[in-house]
Amino acid sequence: MTDLQGYTALVTGASAGIGEAIARRLAADGARLLVHGRDEQRTRRVAEALDAELIVADLAEASGLDAVLAAIEAVGTLDVLVNNAGFEEPATVDQLDPRILERMFRINVFAPVELIRRSLPQLQRSGRGSIINVTSIHESVPVAGNSGYATTKAALAAYTRTAAVELGPRGIRINNLAPGAIRTAMNEHLIDEIGAERFGRWIPAGRVGAVDDVAGAASFLAGPDSRYISGTTVTVDGAYSNHLVRYEPDPG
Ligand SMILES: NC(=O)c1ccc[n+]([C@@H]2O[C@H](COP(=O)([O-])OP(=O)(O)OC[C@H]3O[C@@H](n4cnc5c(N)ncnc54)[C@H](OP(=O)(O)O)[C@@H]3O)[C@@H](O)[C@H]2O)c1
Repeated sequence: MTDLQGYTALVTGASAGIGEAIARRLAADGARLLVHGRDEQRTRRVAEALDAELIVADLAEASGLDAVLAAIEAVGTLDVLVNNAGFEEPATVDQLDPRILERMFRINVFAPVELIRRSLPQLQRSGRGSIINVTSIHESVPVAGNSGYATTKAALAAYTRTAAVELGPRGIRINNLAPGAIRTAMNEHLIDEIGAERFGRWIPAGRVGAVDDVAGAASFLAGPDSRYISGTTVTVDGAYSNHLVRYEPDPG
């Protein structure tokens, strides 16, 4: 366990999947949580279970960003900001029109960058501020039909590396957390289509990842044991991205 007693943490996209697991883990470590999601019912369920503050907001909208920032301003000091909310719309190179790309950029890049920009006073006040940007192995590992999503995650990853240089002197760390294939609503149709057992054979660790695998790494990046780690990417993929990814022929 990481000792996060006395920490205040905000997790975006905590209504489900990886974000919910991160929120539950940080709360179990002792942090006070601000739980954000877009769907009110799902987000309320998590917030109530963790006795956390509830924030319901669409991060694709300026008014949604304002709502999250109002909650951050109200807490005064923020120790951990997890930019987890994300959106993926698969599209081939032929299909990737500006409307699809813009929506992914709004949620995956513009929202985290704006939340960081406007919560710097609260993070700096902490003296141990840690920002965790949830990217993806697809920031560097290609898969057909995913160039738009990959572009947004690569953009966020590049932002993190540069922001770390500026924020270090202000006592704020910032890192990327890059999941591989983790079973959530975002990709369970794909995993079910391929078969979880068969999918696991492409992954050196021998299985598809679980949301708690990512939450453990988030807990480490949030807390004092990672105090000298900034500007890097922690990949949580069971070495999937180290492997030559081959969907065909079937590995057997
Ligand atoms: N699952 C994987 O294998 C995998 C791999 C690499 C990276 N990731 C990244 O991990 C993060 C979490 O994904 P997940 O797999 O846990 O997916 P998920 O279960 O679909 O959860 C996505 C979360 O993002 C929120 N969200 C989506 N659009 C939003 C918007 N416009 N405004 C506010 N919130 C919004 C959702 O809120 P509502 O449910 O309330 O709508 C939900 O809480 C994402 O950044 C994703 O790109 C996932």
